[in-house]
Amino acid sequence: MSDYILVIDAGTTSTRAMLFARDGGCHAATAADITQHYPRPGHVEHDADEIWQRSLGVARAMVERAGGPDRIAAIGIANQRETIVFWDRDTGEPLAPAIVWQDRRTAAMCRTWREAGEEPGVQARTGLLLDPYFSGTKIAWALEHWPQLRAAGERLAIGTVESWLVWKLTHGEHITDATNASRTLLMALGSGSWDDGLIDLFGVPRAALPRIVDNAGQLAETSLLGGLIAICGMAGDQQAATIGQACLTPGQSKATFGTGAFVLANCGHTPPTSRHRLLATVGWQLGGRRTYALEGSVFVAGSLIQWLRDSLQIIASADETEALARSVPDNGGVYLVPALAGIGAPWWEPAARAAITGLSFATGRAHLVRAALEAMAHQSHDLKTAFAADGADWATLRIDGGMVANDWMAQDLADMLGLPVERPGFTETTALGAAMLAGVGCGWFATLVEAAAMRGRVETFTPALDEDVRQARLDGWRIAMRQVIEPRR
Ligand code: G3P
Repeated sequence: MSDYILVIDAGTTSTRAMLFARDGGCHAATAADITQHYPRPGHVEHDADEIWQRSLGVARAMVERAGGPDRIAAIGIANQRETIVFWDRDTGEPLAPAIVWQDRRTAAMCRTWREAGEEPGVQARTGLLLDPYFSGTKIAWALEHWPQLRAAGERLAIGTVESWLVWKLTHGEHITDATNASRTLLMALGSGSWDDGLIDLFGVPRAALPRIVDNAGQLAETSLLGGLIAICGMAGDQQAATIGQACLTPGQSKATFGTGAFVLANCGHTPPTSRHRLLATVGWQLGGRRTYALEGSVFVAGSLIQWLRDSLQIIASADETEALARSVPDNGGVYLVPALAGIGAPWWEPAARAAITGLSFATGRAHLVRAALEAMAHQSHDLKTAFAADGADWATLRIDGGMVANDWMAQDLADMLGLPVERPGFTETTALGAAMLAGVGCGWFATLVEAAAMRGRVETFTPALDEDVRQARLDGWRIAMRQVIEPRR
């Protein structure tokens, strides 16, 4: 009897591997950093070979910790979404840098498509908007600017990160799962298949695309980890976190505060339509049947704290932020709108730039740090407003990701959203969701509901802020946000 699910969580800043037991216990974990390349302002690239080598390295370390491949029941994969990889089918080597989801290089192309009136049709078919965030625009740019891709002809393979990892693990299986495919701008949301019209619009060679598969099942097999192990689950990381948070019933919502912050609300089996600049996306697909979600994508969350640490150097580590936020009675009138990579939902302004407003001689670093943490609640509140307007308001919000270890921030979220916020004891819900999928795929569990027994205890933060103080904060944020958005419109 195999003891563990091995999860590979290939995220934006690190790739991690973990071992999960059937009761959801995380037996071991290890991580390796991913190098961020910024060749020009607005450009963000990864080395696909580094993603592969480091993912393989952490996976091998976990197989060793488990006591060998026979102890692994299945592999589950979660990954940073939208980031796109180009490789050669013959050599299995990357043909170009991977263009990362945060990359803004296609802003002008998106503007042109929008001005040509393409956005309503694209949104109706994919649930997405014409923003540089999504893979299709990145593929179009790469085919235009990197001649080696066209020169590769039929040898060209294109895929998101899970697709790339599976290709490498299996020596040539070219598949992608429905959640990742739904982030490319190339998949029709209703049918779960590549859409010919969209493939034409972005000029993508259809033969270069992978086959779209379910999120769980006997998806592929690898012999690279010391023995034959089945890959039985895979999903984009935010969808995996939605599963890991057991948002399995329509109306349940989660927010993950990682590099960015992503809120997904389960919307059942009919593709939702947003009229307030949210995204419609596949939550998961099992047995060919899709569950859909509405999503609000915020591009800057944990990366803001990293920026305070590495670029401004006003903190030495993220752990300091909680004590600093508590050390002042309020933000001192300071607001930080973190549009460091443009701004995502519900504004979608790729050219927007960040602002810090309300500075005075009385401002200290604690105010700046507090304003940075407060920005998480404010960005979430903007999303809540859009979800409510789309008829998908949140009753509670389940939170996870590295940032939510900060109790002050978790309470601020409850206070500003005005609703209970639930934090699981084990906050690596992305990896847990991939383990749940693999657990279903390998037969440990019959359904995701059964697999949700892997989830542990939950702590609830309830709103406690004076309503006048709350309104004053919301007003202050609105004024600061206007300074960021209006010059671009
Ligand atoms: O859509 C981008 C998202 O998948 C990135 O997630 O956890 O690497 O910030 P993360």
